[in-house]
Parts: sequence; C-alpha cells; structure tokens
Amino acid sequence: MKAPLEIAPAQGKLGILLVGLGAVSTTFIAGVFAVRKGLAKPIGSLTQMGTIRLGKRTDNRTPMVKDFVPLASLDDLVFGGWDIFEDNCYEAAKTAGVLDERLLEQVRTEMEAIKPMKAVFDPFYVKRLHGPNVKTGKNKRDLADQVRADIQQFKKANNCDRLVMIWCGSTEIFAQEGPAHQSVEALERALDSSDPSIPSSMVYAYAAIKEGIPYANGAPNLSADIPALQELAARTKTPITGKDFKTGQTLIKSVIAPGLKARLLGVNGWYSTNILGNRDGEVLDDPESFKTKEESKKGLLDYIFQANLYPDLYGHLHHVVRINYYPPRGDNKEGWDNIDLVGWLGYEMQLKINFLCRDSILAAPIVLDLVLFLDLARRAGLSGIQEWLSFYWKSPQHAAAVYPEHDLFIQLMKLKNTLRYLKGEELITHLGREYYD
Ligand SMILES: NC(=O)c1ccc[n+]([C@@H]2O[C@H](COP(=O)([O-])OP(=O)(O)OC[C@H]3O[C@@H](n4cnc5c(N)ncnc54)[C@H](O)[C@@H]3O)[C@@H](O)[C@H]2O)c1
Repeated sequence: MKAPLEIAPAQGKLGILLVGLGAVSTTFIAGVFAVRKGLAKPIGSLTQMGTIRLGKRTDNRTPMVKDFVPLASLDDLVFGGWDIFEDNCYEAAKTAGVLDERLLEQVRTEMEAIKPMKAVFDPFYVKRLHGPNVKTGKNKRDLADQVRADIQQFKKANNCDRLVMIWCGSTEIFAQEGPAHQSVEALERALDSSDPSIPSSMVYAYAAIKEGIPYANGAPNLSADIPALQELAARTKTPITGKDFKTGQTLIKSVIAPGLKARLLGVNGWYSTNILGNRDGEVLDDPESFKTKEESKKGLLDYIFQANLYPDLYGHLHHVVRINYYPPRGDNKEGWDNIDLVGWLGYEMQLKINFLCRDSILAAPIVLDLVLFLDLARRAGLSGIQEWLSFYWKSPQHAAAVYPEHDLFIQLMKLKNTLRYLKGEELITHLGREYYD
C-alpha cells in the first residue's frame, strides 16, 4: 500500500449551486430530499449505492464507495441556483413534469424554499428562451462580479463550509475556441469588452473558478473547456469537469460500441434518432443549439472505434444523430438506434435498440455523484481537469495531449482506481497471476 493522500474531512454544509433550475436540477434536488426522508432510493448513483473492491479477490474487502472515501453526507447538502424564470423549485418541478405530484407534495416545503437568483442570460446564445429573472450590468465582467457576489452571499446565508457549482442550464449555440479563450488575461479583457465569444455559461464558469469553487458542465457548451479557464483553475486550485451528462442513448452507445469492438465486429452505419418533448427538446429544436449537442453526441463512436487503427472495420462508418422535438412525450424520451454490423467474411447483420427512457431520472444521480466527487477532489487537493470523472460525460474534458476516453468500462476502472489511489490502496490491474502461480 502507498500512503493515502491527505483529504480534508467533509465537515459542515456543502452548498450546491445549480445554474438552471429546470427538469434535471429539480429532479435531482427533490430526489435528495426524498432520499433523506426515506421515501425513495438513490438508484443510479455510484456514490450512494456503489461498492469498490479492494485488494485481491480472496480478501473479500468490498466496501460501499461512500464508506471508503469521505464524501459529504446527503444531510449536509444545501441547494441554491439561478434561473431566468422566477418559479421556485416546487413550481419549476411541476412545470418540468418529471416527478409525480404525490412525491412532490412530500418535499414541497423544502422545494418551495429554493428560489432562483437572477440569471446571467442573453437570448443570443439560447434562441428559444425568454424570461424575466435576468441580471443587467455594464459589461460581462460586471455580470461575473454579480455572480461572485451571489456565491459569497449564498455561502454566508446558508452557513456553508464549501461550495460546488454545476451547469444544468440550457444548451447554448455552437461555439469554438477562439483568441479570447487562450489565456486568463485575454478572457478578462473579453469580459470587459463584452466580447460575443463569451456565452453566459462561460461567465458563470469564470465566476466559480475565480472563487475557487469546483465547476461541472452538464451541457455540451464550451463553458470551462478553454485554455483560459484551465489556467485559472490551476491558479485557484479548482477542480473542473465536463461536458454533457451521459444519460440515455449515448450511455447505451458507450456500452454497446466497446462490446462490438472487443469482438472485432465491423460497423458500417449507426443511425440514432430521438423524440423528446421537454424544454430541453424545445431548446434543441433550434438548429444552432442542436449543432452543439450533435457534435457532443457524435464524437464518441470515432474515439471508441479508432478507424485509423481498424480501417477495415470502421473506416466506412456512417454515424447519424437526430433529435426531434415532440411535446406529447415530455421528459420521457424515446430513442431508436439502428446499427449495421459486419461479421466474418463481410456478412451483414443489424442490431436495433429502442430505449424508452426518462431523461432527468437518468441525469439526477449523475448530478449527485459529480457534486460529491468534485467536493472530494477539492478536499484531496486535486485541481484542473478531473479526467477520472469521464464516466459521467458524453464529451469528456481532457488534456490537450491525449484523446478523450469514451469506453464506459475503461472510464469506470479509471474512476475506481482514482479512489483507490486517493486512499493509498493498490490499483487493480486485473492481471490476476497470483491466483495461479
Ligand atoms: N436530462 C438529460 O438527460 C440530459 C443529458 C445531457 C445533458 N443535458 C443538458 O442538461 C441541461 C439541463 O437539461 P434540462 O432537461 O434540465 O433542461 P430544462 O430546459 O428543463 O432546464 C434548463 C433550465 O436552465 C435555465 N437557463 C437557461 N439558460 C440559463 C442561464 N444562462 N442562467 C440560468 N438559467 C438558465 C432555463 O430557464 C431552464 O429552466 C441541458 O443543457 C441539457 O441539454 C440533459
């Protein structure tokens, strides 16, 4: 065993600041209240229900993750956030229509107490939304300073020991890294001049990282995925992670694709389509926001299949992703995948997947795990990009020198080995010679 890292204890309150109090956020918050009251189980959460094997298989040491690493207790979480609408969390959860009234009524008082702070919002970046609860300021730096003031005020008012921020706001229009994103100084100049290459999500990310608050990005927005904010994160010793929660169709893709590749089955085509009727679906109905989502959803197969190494198997892949806004389904997304595979001697086969999922039910446990793990990372002295949290992302943020890891099983191994590393336990390589020597 190596020496464990020094990890500060998870004492006191952990404030969770959510940007966007929509379907995902309210399902997450109501869920934590329900679990605290013993009304339901935190299914889908690795931090709450997962275990971790330590040592050899013959050692029989498999604690719960939450007993192995010092995570904040659900009882110590307090919630706050920003939204462009004035609804409190109970009203917002009712609008989202994910949870049934019976459950919501039982957490109503706690949910009603959470009211959104005024948002940094510009409809230029999210064309389909307009709301009244929005800040005004003389430039984007001023707006960032207002968010920083909100953060400090929230921390004081709720007597928080530590904070974490997570973007659960809408998907913004497609943006690429530009000159304003290359250094902290360039970014700050761009904030001063309200440069259009600084979307609202970047203003929040800047404010959080400047305050040394861990930041996670649940949407595919560029947000903190730029050199300037990585540099700022290094300066303020802040952990960051993103992007875009890996929930429904992409989760299944990152399960199936490594399996096909493991058996060297070729894939000529992968057609994915979805119908979705919630507000997220409405925002994604705008082609500019959809482009951001499409790029995020499409990258994964290229990285998993590595056509450069396997040209005969994946060199001709046609990968198509569609999302159609279809209000009758609300948050209950339906996804279809058609996979055209190729086997021995080039014989063709097809695999069809029809996933009737619930978007926010799949996202909520990811939000919980991310905020708890980011808080752990901060207390363990980890900063910058937390690649070990790739497990949760459609487009994992990664160092410039490496390609992102998309295979769910490698991601899980990386996550658990990081926890073992933090605690000074042997990493598990699955070599296993010792059982046979
Ligand atoms: N649910 C999933 O499975 C899933 C998976 C991956 C990514 N996501 C992403 O997570 C995000 C949230 O999804 P959702 O279903 O909760 O959407 P939603 O539309 O229900 O909620 C988003 C909320 O963010 C608010 N908002 C938008 N811009 C804001 C800003 N600048 N400041 C403050 N608030 C702002 C909106 O008013 C809205 O209430 C979306 O970007 C979505 O693409 C969701």
